[in-house]
Amino acid sequence: MGAIFFGFSCQTKTIDYENLAIAITDEAKTNLVQKLTTAIAEGGTKQAIPFCKINAVGFTNQLGKKHGVELRRITNKPRNPSNALSKEEKDIFLEIEKLKTTAGVFPKKTITSDTSVTVYIPVLVGGLCLQCHGEPNLDIKKETLDVLEKEYPGDLAKGYRLGDLRGLFSVKFPK
Ligand code: HEC
Repeated sequence: MGAIFFGFSCQTKTIDYENLAIAITDEAKTNLVQKLTTAIAEGGTKQAIPFCKINAVGFTNQLGKKHGVELRRITNKPRNPSNALSKEEKDIFLEIEKLKTTAGVFPKKTITSDTSVTVYIPVLVGGLCLQCHGEPNLDIKKETLDVLEKEYPGDLAKGYRLGDLRGLFSVKFPK
């Protein structure tokens, strides 16, 4: 009897994956914005682009490894094709996009499988982002556009407005 009861009580231990994911993505956002701001201050927007190209994916991977998770930035309109959505992620992205509240808030989503728990956290467009993701020639300067065209010939990540859903952080925890 006692052993059975003990067995059950062990199973009730729950991990708050969503809050863990929020802490990890907050750290990633703070770090990415800091690196971006420094790169822009040092060489201007157009020089920050090659910097992002070399560092963004590697930095995101590393930060995930440090926390024992698989951390990615994914989007329906990728600049870097390796950040494109898989078929399953496409459905999740559409669902999150559709559930935007009147206050402009997008929900998070958690998917559980036998072997992992993945938390999806929305990434929104803020003021800093427009100079590289906004309207060409209006928000994005000609000299920046030239660099984007050279570094990312198939770039889809332009034309965004403030508050748009730019992408998702995907935080995958092994179970
Ligand atoms: C200096 C220009 C610049 C600014 C400013 C900028 N980005 Fe980007 N962004 C890039 C580049 C370049 C990439 C592609 C990086 C790569 O090759 O991995 C990128 C990629 C991304 C991605 C990954 C998906 C994709 O399209 O490949 C997200 C998400 C993203 N940016 C969000 C933002 C947000 C949110 C902001 C504002 C806080 C922002 N960016 C500001 C240049 C910029």
